[in-house]
Amino acid sequence: MSRVALVTGAGSGIGRAAAIRLSQAGLRVVLASRGAEALAATAQACPGPTLAIPADVTDPSAVDRLFDRAEQDWGGVEVLIASAGAGFSARIERTSDADWNRMLELNLTAPFRCLRRAVPAMRAAGYGRIVVIASTASRIGEPYLAAYAASKHGVLGLVRAAGAELAGTGVTVNAVCPGFVDTPMTEATIGRPGPLGAGGQAADRAADHARGGGRRRVVLRRQRGHHRAGDQRRRRHGPVLTPLADRIVLITTESF
Ligand SMILES: NC(=O)c1ccc[n+]([C@@H]2O[C@H](COP(=O)([O-])OP(=O)(O)OC[C@H]3O[C@@H](n4cnc5c(N)ncnc54)[C@H](OP(=O)(O)O)[C@@H]3O)[C@@H](O)[C@H]2O)c1
Repeated sequence: MSRVALVTGAGSGIGRAAAIRLSQAGLRVVLASRGAEALAATAQACPGPTLAIPADVTDPSAVDRLFDRAEQDWGGVEVLIASAGAGFSARIERTSDADWNRMLELNLTAPFRCLRRAVPAMRAAGYGRIVVIASTASRIGEPYLAAYAASKHGVLGLVRAAGAELAGTGVTVNAVCPGFVDTPMTEATIGRPGPLGAGGQAADRAADHARGGGRRRVVLRRQRGHHRAGDQRRRRHGPVLTPLADRIVLITTESF
């Protein structure tokens, strides 16, 4: 029987692309996110068997039900891709407790709960592959991203600790730290001023820039051509949006 992968955030963006790629590689794929329609669209794009299970990963009992159902139907989950997440950008003084807690719940606590639920079966089988989609914000600080960066720094700590704890068991734990990828999340959080962050990062940046307080102008452009050309443009102009397909190759070149 082919291996079983469970992908959170499979309804869109990086999670959807990873799910399709894993399905193309021959795995059975459990697809999880909240929106049933988006999951159905991902399932249609997968060439192999899928199990679409709508679940809110910030709800501990929903995470349990998700893994219970996967185990009942297909046995233990052998590959976990924790991609469900969201961005949030605002000045520190505009970041409420609710904003802060939402980022930590979704980007840090939910991956922890998924790992905790996945590990026993992986440990027992002597095999497991866990990949958490972290961020470059896991490694550096950027203005207007306090809550997001804190959640993503935290999740990298989780990955490092879990990787060390599970060394020698056959279970590996890794993080992918993408820069800007061309997905709906980037569009919502950074690409244009929006409801996120009470006006959004772009609006705050523009206001700071007008006051002379901006560090640099951020221009997001869709990358064309080879990475090296993109790197040269990045040095000249700042961040570049990477096409989704390029990132997914990085995630799935290892054979599961
Ligand atoms: N895009 C980037 O530039 C970028 C860069 C670095 C890191 N990342 C990280 O990559 C991951 C995926 O981002 P993306 O760009 O692919 O975003 P995306 O296109 O917005 O996809 C996010 C997915 O997560 C799901 N999701 C959100 N909240 C959820 C919840 N409470 N329970 C279950 N599923 C939930 C969404 O579906 P529903 O809303 O239907 O639940 C959606 O399927 C995130 O962890 C993000 O931080 C993205």
